[in-house]
Amino acid sequence: MSGPEGLRLNTEEQCYMPSSPTIGRPVAVLGIGSMGTAIAKALIEAGHHVTVWNRSRERLAGLTGCFVAETAVEACRDAEITFTCFSNLPATYDVLKQPGVVGALQGKALVPMSTATPDEVHGFQRFAQASGIDYLDAKIAVTPAQIGAPTAVIFFAGPQALFLRVEPVLRALAGRATLMGQRIDGAVLGDFAFLSVYFASTIGILHGAAFLRNSGLNIEQFFGLIPCFLDEINARSQSFRKMIVAGDYTDVQSALKTDLAGARLLANATANAGMQNLFSDALIELMQDAVAQGHGDLDSAAMVQAFSKIMSTPQPVEVPG
Ligand SMILES: NC(=O)c1ccc[n+]([C@@H]2O[C@H](COP(=O)([O-])OP(=O)(O)OC[C@H]3O[C@@H](n4cnc5c(N)ncnc54)[C@H](OP(=O)(O)O)[C@@H]3O)[C@@H](O)[C@H]2O)c1
Repeated sequence: MSGPEGLRLNTEEQCYMPSSPTIGRPVAVLGIGSMGTAIAKALIEAGHHVTVWNRSRERLAGLTGCFVAETAVEACRDAEITFTCFSNLPATYDVLKQPGVVGALQGKALVPMSTATPDEVHGFQRFAQASGIDYLDAKIAVTPAQIGAPTAVIFFAGPQALFLRVEPVLRALAGRATLMGQRIDGAVLGDFAFLSVYFASTIGILHGAAFLRNSGLNIEQFFGLIPCFLDEINARSQSFRKMIVAGDYTDVQSALKTDLAGARLLANATANAGMQNLFSDALIELMQDAVAQGHGDLDSAAMVQAFSKIMSTPQPVEVPG
């Protein structure tokens, strides 16, 4: 199997064998840390012709079935799509500003996957436009172990035509590769919305486990029931969506004041279990604030109104299509 000119094949296991050569496309992954390794492995597994580059060579040792470039410019020279997975965007600039890299990327797709702020991706968009690079932003909502899973979510933002051009390759990374819109900060914002779900639910799970353990109960049954809890949360969130879209919270399944009473009981129970109460205190504070704004008799979906009131600057809304 011949590779991009001058590049050696990483063949510790002599295993470069694309599983589906007909779909293999030349791609590069720059930044082979924990996430970059998972991205490269998923692309190799899907049968793409992958060239990797990392600043420190030792990270590349366990990666087989791909080409290893000596420099970043070598890696992206023949790639149709270049994924970057550095710690952050400043590190990404450090590499892209190496001699010849911008020239090698011109007219090709560049997909930076590092976590970033909206301001940073706007700045990166200006850099890409000035450099003639086709920029599709990506933000990852899973850990490396989930890359390639059918339920894995990666948010994308940028021109729809560019997304469609590279989508077949993106599907190897995440079954739910999702274009959040043509606004370049769409992926970042989607990722922050995901993080609010992720932090609230994972901290809730850990709080529940600590409570049972402190109360002297076995946590195995609790963890066995987590999928059922998530099903319930899913069903509840679908009813939230309908109410938020309609702007009507009067079809009450669980009133905000009822949830507040439950949060107070939780606070008492956790205090009795000898635990610190920061978690339940925060819940009570949020709900009390929403009740004080007059939402107590409405469904607890009306919390969305209370959260929105805090905003001082209206955000532009992109109309789909
Ligand atoms: N890990 C996760 O669960 C996860 C989930 C979602 C999003 N992310 C995002 O993915 C990105 C990468 O995370 P990670 O977990 O893969 O981090 P990591 O394991 O620490 O890898 C960081 C990578 O960036 C490279 N790097 C850092 N500064 C550099 C510079 N100035 N020049 C060249 N290379 C540089 C490192 O190269 P060296 O090996 O040479 O140091 C390494 O390849 C981050 O933005 C993170 O927020 C990670």
